[in-house]
Amino acid sequence: MKQKTVIGNWKNYLNGVETIKLSKQIVGEKISDYIRLMISPCNLYLNEVNEIMKESSVEVIGQNITSYDSSSDTGGVTAIGLNDIGVNRSIIGHSEVRKRNKGFKSEDILKEIMPAQFKFILCFENTQQIPFNILNNDFEMILAYEPVWAIGTGETASIEHINEIHGSVKSELSKLNLDIPVLYGGSVNPNNSKEILSQELVDGVLVGGASTKYEDLHKIINSI
Ligand code: PGA
Repeated sequence: MKQKTVIGNWKNYLNGVETIKLSKQIVGEKISDYIRLMISPCNLYLNEVNEIMKESSVEVIGQNITSYDSSSDTGGVTAIGLNDIGVNRSIIGHSEVRKRNKGFKSEDILKEIMPAQFKFILCFENTQQIPFNILNNDFEMILAYEPVWAIGTGETASIEHINEIHGSVKSELSKLNLDIPVLYGGSVNPNNSKEILSQELVDGVLVGGASTKYEDLHKIINSI
């Protein structure tokens, strides 16, 4: 079986004490070669979590980027700022971000960070949100299909639906000779992770709520 990526998106669910506790539990995990684990804590604790994970195989990533370089954006997050603390990858275009920023266009931020080869996981709810024309194989990019109705609702997309969407995205990518993994996100939990992760067309999962509970995350990363 090929290696699958599991991303824990902790959103703003955990306070500082909980974040550090969970990070220390995870850093002690023995992770199989079939799983690559990334953790995306709330920005406030990014630096501390990155320090904890430093000697492990767990990659710590950002939840959002608003510009590449410094800007006059109150509350924004820059890619160079993340780079400064040793974080070289971020989620981009999560539906919770798109909801806050109605004018969000992934092309705008991708055009800023791609020349610097800042790695990203671009979330999409529909294929129109994927700027296929600007993607390339120059460095690692990841796509994540996240149907908005499945996020935080406990309602997971069916395997047929996931395969249909992933199949159509992958066929578009292959027409363009793009080798970009496609993850699924939306109410992934220990009961459905094995089946979802076993799908040939699924390169990994983006997990929100369940990733904030150690037992659940432990089960998910051990489900294949
Ligand atoms: P959920 O969140 O697993 O809580 O549905 C997924 C996500 O927002 O990435």
